[in-house]
Amino acid sequence: MYPLGTRVNERGRLEIGGCDAVEIVEEFGSPTYVVAEDDLRTRARAFGQAIASRHRDYDVLFASKAFPCTAVYRTLAEEGLGCDVASGGELYLALRAGFDPARIYLHGNAKSEAELQEALEAGVGQVVLDSFDDLERLARIAAELGRGTAAGPGAQEVLLRVTPGVAGDTHHAISTGQVDSKFGFSIEEAAEAISRLQGGSELKLVGLHCHIGSQLMELEPFRWAVQAISALGDFPVYNLGGGLGVAYTADQHPPKAADYVGAVVDAAHQWLGEDKRLLLEPGRALVANSTVTLYTVQTVTRNVSTWVAVDGGMSDNLRPMLYGATYEALIADRPLAPGTEVCNLVGKHCESGDVLVRDVSLAAPSPGDVVATPVTGAYGYALANNYNSVPRPPVVFCRDGTARLVVRRETYEDLAARDVD
Ligand code: LLP
Repeated sequence: MYPLGTRVNERGRLEIGGCDAVEIVEEFGSPTYVVAEDDLRTRARAFGQAIASRHRDYDVLFASKAFPCTAVYRTLAEEGLGCDVASGGELYLALRAGFDPARIYLHGNAKSEAELQEALEAGVGQVVLDSFDDLERLARIAAELGRGTAAGPGAQEVLLRVTPGVAGDTHHAISTGQVDSKFGFSIEEAAEAISRLQGGSELKLVGLHCHIGSQLMELEPFRWAVQAISALGDFPVYNLGGGLGVAYTADQHPPKAADYVGAVVDAAHQWLGEDKRLLLEPGRALVANSTVTLYTVQTVTRNVSTWVAVDGGMSDNLRPMLYGATYEALIADRPLAPGTEVCNLVGKHCESGDVLVRDVSLAAPSPGDVVATPVTGAYGYALANNYNSVPRPPVVFCRDGTARLVVRRETYEDLAARDVD
């Protein structure tokens, strides 16, 4: 689960990207998101290589909602990925980090007029249409900007997001492929949207998109989705979404990225043809394992259970509360020491549900210990919040023994920075 290159160093401590975890906390405080930069880069390359060896015309897009942090955008842009953005804010960050607008794809089930306008003005490659209202709004804005007229810029390329009626086995809150969904066009509606788009000149339909859900541990649903959308006709571009799961704990066994890519490409060849442009947009599988959150134990309370409370919690990792997500934890200055006690690793927030890891065996935990929870790169920083007015943690990139602050810790002044009165 830990980032590539993680080891126990000569001092017997956890080392991430060549940096001693306890020293990271001494320098940057806690909680802190620690990103092993080489892990990010290696996984990005692995996705590219896996598809390049099987298919000619493709692009791998970073689903940036998973870790919308400028340094992460920049790293993945440097690795040659394109970018999926789902809001004006993500678009802003992606552009600022240096993504080529032509390789940015705008998603969203409720894009605002302003977001569509911003995307068109930035020159995004493709907009993924999610509903008839979205289609009509974008067509109007594109027409107002003179798109597709003889004198003006070309038509705006669009994809249609199709809900294929396939549900993968995941938490209901992150399953999106089922028919009863707020996302996308059903197969029947998509057929109607396709014929509507044939009437106008400002939008150019180039293909279909589908994303059936997230944290999927099996490959079959991805194949079914490709088969389902193949019924809608023949297009030059297919964006097959993201969704590959990762292991949060040792007992979870997701498919390897190469096997996932192989399955999706094989299905595309079988059902769509070998000459299509294929887009994949992984989020979690690119970034989850790159990051470890470091905390400091504040209190240990023993009653019926043992409660090991740290200086963060649901403000830096909401996933246990939102999805019942499970994690592992260890004490960073003695990662190999055998556990002495089954504990609940809990946060500092004013709710009993603020539990980071239930029933985790820790080695004689006591106040001042640095605790590490791995696999927090995806949707950790992304879902971070200021509950209890707790400043959000910094992000530190580690590589070859050098720790580099890329996002500073929030301050109390930041908490009041938007006050106007
Ligand atoms: N493409 C689209 C259109 C998406 O909606 C998503 C994720 C992705 C790609 C990337 O999916 P991934 O490869 O990361 O599974 N907050 C939740 C996950 C929400 C996923 C939203 N959409 C969590 O923490 O589990």
